[in-house]
Amino acid sequence: MEQHFYPTEEKDKKTRYEEFLTQYAGLIEGESNAVSVMANTCAALKEAFGFFWVGFYLVEGDTLVLGPFQGDVACYRIRKGLGVCGTAWAEGRTLVVPDVDAFPGHIACSSLSRSEIVIPIIYNEVIKGVLDIDSDQPDDFDDTDREELEQVVRLMAETLYT
Ligand code: SME
Repeated sequence: MEQHFYPTEEKDKKTRYEEFLTQYAGLIEGESNAVSVMANTCAALKEAFGFFWVGFYLVEGDTLVLGPFQGDVACYRIRKGLGVCGTAWAEGRTLVVPDVDAFPGHIACSSLSRSEIVIPIIYNEVIKGVLDIDSDQPDDFDDTDREELEQVVRLMAETLYT
């Protein structure tokens, strides 16, 4: 199974996400192991978009625990309501943070991180965890990233939990 998620820089971001989603649907189809699917999701997103850090934090009780990721080593546990990840979980919505230094309580796993997007994984109205993506550039995420990454996460949740 050789597959590559090559970046297609010449196309606009929305088109790149749409191409990504088509290929990604094939990548995860039929696999129900959460660690495996999340690991491949990180690898595919990193390869296609070159994100600085991409990974999952998963709900365990009142805490998010580090799951599969690509990038520098990261903190293991984030309490509900803390940091960008814990706030996205508590509020049940995607957070786009253009300047991490301006976000109260931001948890700095890497001093190089400048902006961040966190998307909750919601299935049957239950939050299973979050997808966290960091950039080393300020203001690197917008509504297109939010809409398209929410689709990626929705597709993943349907594949894993249906
Ligand atoms: N910045 C996150 C912590 C996780 S790392 O970015 C990998 C936060 O504030 O929740």
